[in-house]
Amino acid sequence: MNGIKLLSTGSAVPAKVVTNDDLAKIVDTNDEWISTRTGIRSRRYCGEGESHTALCLAAARQALARSGVKPSELGVCVVATFTQDFLTPAAACLLQRELGLLEDTVCFDLNAACSGFVYALHTAQCLLAAAPRKYGLVLGAEVLSRVTDFDDRSTCVLFGDGAGAAVVEWRADYPSLHAVLGCRGNDECLYAPGVNTSRPAHIHMDGQPVFRFAVEAVPRCAKEVLSKAGLGLEDVDRFVFHQANQRIIDFAIKKLGVDPDKCTGNIARTGNTSAASVPLLLDELVTAGALRSGQKALCVGFGGGLTWAGALLELA
Ligand code: UT7
Repeated sequence: MNGIKLLSTGSAVPAKVVTNDDLAKIVDTNDEWISTRTGIRSRRYCGEGESHTALCLAAARQALARSGVKPSELGVCVVATFTQDFLTPAAACLLQRELGLLEDTVCFDLNAACSGFVYALHTAQCLLAAAPRKYGLVLGAEVLSRVTDFDDRSTCVLFGDGAGAAVVEWRADYPSLHAVLGCRGNDECLYAPGVNTSRPAHIHMDGQPVFRFAVEAVPRCAKEVLSKAGLGLEDVDRFVFHQANQRIIDFAIKKLGVDPDKCTGNIARTGNTSAASVPLLLDELVTAGALRSGQKALCVGFGGGLTWAGALLELA
């Protein structure tokens, strides 16, 4: 047994709330279509003066303050994202400067799209095992509004901005995350082009194949994590699913046969925030007292890559 536990969480979202009715003023859509097909009612968009870096910093500071861990005690800082302010420097490098992390703290960004935060948790666990300092800072952060195609009504209604942070501690007597990570390379049904492609610089998604992928991957991944951990569904206190579409989550709940009250989400207020989605929800659950010390959260991400990732995270 050796692994990480969650010590604390933090989050930050932009000030601007964009409702479905607001979007209906700029694209041919309506609140009824968006809310019944996705469960989304509003999302947040960064405005002038707000940035990916600022969201990360606010979420990280909150998580650190709540944990009592000093920046100089961190061995690792990983930011899961694909919408950081700069291709380089990484968002994590800017956090190193702003938070005053020691220069030998391992700081980098990780791109596994909507599975990114769970990939980053697993990565932090592996790195902390060998690091001189055993605390890690793990974030998921996105500013998707800046890569959204507002001429495409089938995608622009889905996405939102935000950042979630977690402080974790590695100990030899802590349980492993029992992470299950996977990918099936595909640049057709879900992608955001980089600087070396001629495709339009927006998120593109063919919803239906991604939907079919997600409803298969989420329950399978959740079961594989539990099988690795030697635990059952009844041992999980909270299921923290990537908030992409309430219909996908409802499908997973039904397929797994778990209590919907253990699967409450926040998609109605956040939209799909990709890598930020799981840590934003974790923070909401922890601050609401819905995930408490000693309890286990089964986190499952899925999305661009195509990727999937699950991990069992215990609150210290
Ligand atoms: O986070 C990464 C992972 N992403 C996901 O997991 C997303 C997976 N996919 C989905 O969640 C769903 O496929 C969507 C929410 C994206 C779309 O829902 P859908 O039920 O698959 O709708 P659709 O694309 O099949 O479109 C159905 C109809 C079409 O009209 P016709 O052709 O039937 O006349 C669309 O043109 O809905 C129309 N439509 C809209 N109507 C009003 C598409 N977008 C909109 C809109 N408002 N915003």
